[in-house]
Amino acid sequence: MCGIIGYVGKENAVPYLLTGLQKLEYRGYDSAGIALQTSEDFKIIKATGRVSRLKEKLSESTAKSMLGIGHTRWATHGEVSLSNAHPHLSYKGIFTVVHNGIIENYSALRDKLKDEGYPFVSDTDTEVIAHLLERDYNGDLVSSLVNTIKKLEGSFALAILCKKAPDTLILIKKESPLIIGKGKDGFLVASDINALSPFSEETVKLNDGEIALITPNRISFYSPEGNETFHSFRKFSYLSKSAEKGLFSHFMLKEIFEQPKALKDTLQHCFNEKEKLKNELSFILRPHNKAVRIYLIGCGSAYHAALSGKYVFEKLTAIPSEAVIASEFCTADFPVNENCLCIFISQSGETADTLSALKKAKEKGAYILSVLNVSESSAALLSNSVIYTKAGPEIAVATTKAYTCQLMVLYFLAVLSAYENKLLNDGDYQYYINELNSLPEKASGIIERQEEFSKFAKVLSAQTAVHFIGRNTDYVAALEGALKMKEISYIPSDAYPSGELKHGTISLIEKNSLTIALCSNDSVFKKTANSIEEIRSRGGDVITVSSEKHTEDLSALQRKIIVPDTDDLFVSLTEAIPLQLIAFYTAKEKGCDIDKPRNLAKSVTVE
Ligand code: F6R
Repeated sequence: MCGIIGYVGKENAVPYLLTGLQKLEYRGYDSAGIALQTSEDFKIIKATGRVSRLKEKLSESTAKSMLGIGHTRWATHGEVSLSNAHPHLSYKGIFTVVHNGIIENYSALRDKLKDEGYPFVSDTDTEVIAHLLERDYNGDLVSSLVNTIKKLEGSFALAILCKKAPDTLILIKKESPLIIGKGKDGFLVASDINALSPFSEETVKLNDGEIALITPNRISFYSPEGNETFHSFRKFSYLSKSAEKGLFSHFMLKEIFEQPKALKDTLQHCFNEKEKLKNELSFILRPHNKAVRIYLIGCGSAYHAALSGKYVFEKLTAIPSEAVIASEFCTADFPVNENCLCIFISQSGETADTLSALKKAKEKGAYILSVLNVSESSAALLSNSVIYTKAGPEIAVATTKAYTCQLMVLYFLAVLSAYENKLLNDGDYQYYINELNSLPEKASGIIERQEEFSKFAKVLSAQTAVHFIGRNTDYVAALEGALKMKEISYIPSDAYPSGELKHGTISLIEKNSLTIALCSNDSVFKKTANSIEEIRSRGGDVITVSSEKHTEDLSALQRKIIVPDTDDLFVSLTEAIPLQLIAFYTAKEKGCDIDKPRNLAKSVTVE
């Protein structure tokens, strides 16, 4: 959600800022802008729309500087417009600021500043920061910044230029991420480690509340109280190769195709970490065996992974397990205490709702285990224990490989916990491990049939709505399929447990309405088959996603997607892949911007 980039060094900042903004664009793409420190003033250039528009504008300018900041925006306060695009300037033009996050008390601060005569040219919360910085400036940069920070409530990562310190890039971080990279001839800063990958191999991550002042030759760090702190740069191994599109038309398609390897690497990583996990989870495992409840928490697709995990944990470990949407966890009073295991699931590890829920669970004494894809993310730093998915960088806004890898980790954890708790004998344990080992190859077999799924695009793209139904683990796939379809193709899509159909939703079924029925879970196949008949007898069309063993049973149906036979507990994973592909091809048929869908952004760092 909003991307920040900054450069200070001995070279022209502009190419660094532009390349960084392009890499950060998945965090928000309503508008973009840069500010350059020139000898006597700031040069600010902004454009609405994509970074490419900003690039065009910049190509008409000869602006150069060795110090600059840049921003790509996901609108929170105020419409998409040039005046709301960052960087924002203070009243007398002493400070210019880019911001990621939300200032929760901005309205009160804005009123106060207005009363004091500060004029506002934007609707953003960020402009408040620019004016406050100027108002609090007392000649000493650090103490002035400390004064301003004290007044700000909410989350913020800020990159700031100040005319009184014309060689200094100023950074402040609270909750929203900000990472500094050491380049050949200068320093770079970005909201995301991957934006630094082309330039620097050594990085430092600011702690919450910290300030950094960076000149071409020196960095100084300060605590929120203004006392000097110290950090050393550490080598970071990027996966920049997989952050390029290569021969694929879209990142989403590339990431779908990367799943077999990502799943294999993730499972291998789980095996490598097995002893460590057994140690860390020893309190739900024997001999302590004291977990009374497991919460699995995430947002969007990560919540769907949580739900799939809930079915598997509950079935295999018999410990009451609950999947909760992170924002709901924050507002409701779930009974959480030190005998609870809370599993947080997040690709980015920076999702604001997930982080708030994590902090709440931690305060209540629960043991926090996080399933994350990005190392050293905020969630990683707050957790008691972390297990990483090995999906590699995921750039398309709609998650695919990170999601299926989350499922893999949760399945492994549940199988391991059950075995250690002596709820599975050696033979059963080996059966489940074999099933998990077979998933990458099954994924590969499904992906190879992409042509077959692309044929559904014509029918689907003509729909005004698509319904997804399924029971139990099939229902998880229905939820994920509907989310993928609506977010990238903009076709209203909803998911229902099949059994709920007759309790209201069936009124939506009419001649030629389209339902995608998930029915690979053997134990509930017959029941979902009944729901399919109820839809067909009302003239509705149905596409089924079923396993090989039910091909015959569904022979009356025209449109079928067959996935390999898989244990009922794990079908949410095999079913997810054709649903990703049909959503992709439907969106393509409709000419949608698949990697950067309307109004969305990856890494949702505001609540
Ligand atoms: C859907 C999607 C989102 C994310 C959600 C959580 O395709 O990508 O629903 O799953 O925003 O993001 P993370 O996993 O980064 O916490």
